[in-house]
Amino acid sequence: MPARSIASRMVASSAHSWRGQVAALAAAFALTFATAGVCAQSLQDKIAQCAACHGEDGKSSDPAIPHIGGQPQLFVMYQLFFYREGRRKSPEMNTVAKELTDAELTAISEHVAKLPAPPPQSGTPDEAKFKRGAALAQQRICASCHNDDYSGREQMARLAGQREAYTIQALKDYRAGVRIGTQAAMPETVRGLSDDDLAALAHFLAYVR
Ligand code: HEC
Ligand code: HEC
Repeated sequence: MPARSIASRMVASSAHSWRGQVAALAAAFALTFATAGVCAQSLQDKIAQCAACHGEDGKSSDPAIPHIGGQPQLFVMYQLFFYREGRRKSPEMNTVAKELTDAELTAISEHVAKLPAPPPQSGTPDEAKFKRGAALAQQRICASCHNDDYSGREQMARLAGQREAYTIQALKDYRAGVRIGTQAAMPETVRGLSDDDLAALAHFLAYVR
């Protein structure tokens, strides 16, 4: 199946049928990847490049760059695919992903998923902000997709311990509709939330245990 039709099916997917869509997507990816070869040497070189920005263990030291360790394999594979196709915009990641073959997307995402998950943000959270974030997360049932411990699964990101500034930006991008993702779930989830609400959610998620 050509990439273009995978992407257009992602756009077309609706909230009630997303499970079926995801299963179909996974099958489409598996088919595409099964037929492509992986070059071991250049794959290692490409994986080594990730560390320059995301840190040795997938733990970034730059507030604007996400930790990637412990992210679900499917989530990472989809994001790399979105960056490669220009469906998710980032000058850095669009450049990185441009050169990756389908087989490399699979192999790299398997590697990333095995890196250790980031620990909760160190230090003491702002109590009021943390509580507000926790209450909002409950109201908007974030855990129903991202797991009770926010560890993520399948195409749904790990959120726990993520860099606060990065999470705020991600939530703003969904709210503004510039990041869509695998289905319309995230833009719908953050609709109507204020900047302060998004900041409280990101604070809660950075410190959550
Ligand atoms: C030049 C720096 C740079 C390099 C090299 C780089 N990244 Fe990134 N990466 C970023 C930035 C910046 C972002 C956040 C972009 C955004 O907001 O969409 C990002 C985002 C990501 C995301 C999305 C994470 C999320 O939680 O949504 C993944 C997955 C990722 N990178 C994987 C990789 C992999 C795998 C490699 C190596 C093949 C790599 N990156 C190399 C800078 C880099
Ligand atoms: C119906 C399922 C669903 C619900 C409910 C949901 N999410 Fe998500 N979330 C997803 C999916 C799927 C993705 C990956 C989307 C993509 O590909 O960009 C995602 C991605 C994210 C990301 C991007 C993470 C990253 O590393 O790039 C953040 C942040 C996030 N969700 C936060 C939240 C918060 C906060 C809530 C509650 C207010 C929430 N989500 C509720 C399904 C959901």
